[in-house]
Amino acid sequence: MIKCLVLHGPNLNLLGTREPEVYGKTTFDDLNRSIKETASRLGMEVRIIQSNSEGQLIDAIHDAMTWAQGIVINPGAYTHYSYAIRDAIAAARLPAIEVHVSNVHARDEWRRHSVVAPVVVGQIVGLGPRGYLMAIEAMKNLIEESHR
Ligand code: DQA
Repeated sequence: MIKCLVLHGPNLNLLGTREPEVYGKTTFDDLNRSIKETASRLGMEVRIIQSNSEGQLIDAIHDAMTWAQGIVINPGAYTHYSYAIRDAIAAARLPAIEVHVSNVHARDEWRRHSVVAPVVVGQIVGLGPRGYLMAIEAMKNLIEESHR
């Protein structure tokens, strides 16, 4: 069974109430339920972790090296400046997909740059919570292709 870590960064626990005009009304719990449902439909195992601290996100990436085959990550605002998270993803040597709920390119200038982008396979941006569901399906395909 394909195993994937889904990692949510800071403030994503507030989805549903946080700036709903930007991030939508789907709650964090609803999102995680959909992720679990999609994973079980795809025959995947996902573990979902959210943290508001950089060190815990990095620890979760390190730990994923022991059990996961891929990482779906929304680093939140850390996307734009955390070289430490970027280095952790590079060190893990697991395929990673970066997700953003909002269209970061249509917002503040500083959100357009991702320091994580160079070390991920690709990004899914601006499609709301469904971006996570697309990402785990894409991850399954990537891992299966790499085994062919
Ligand atoms: C976000 C975009 C980031 O710029 C922001 O800091 C977030 C959420 C998104 O999912 O759209 O916390 O990663």
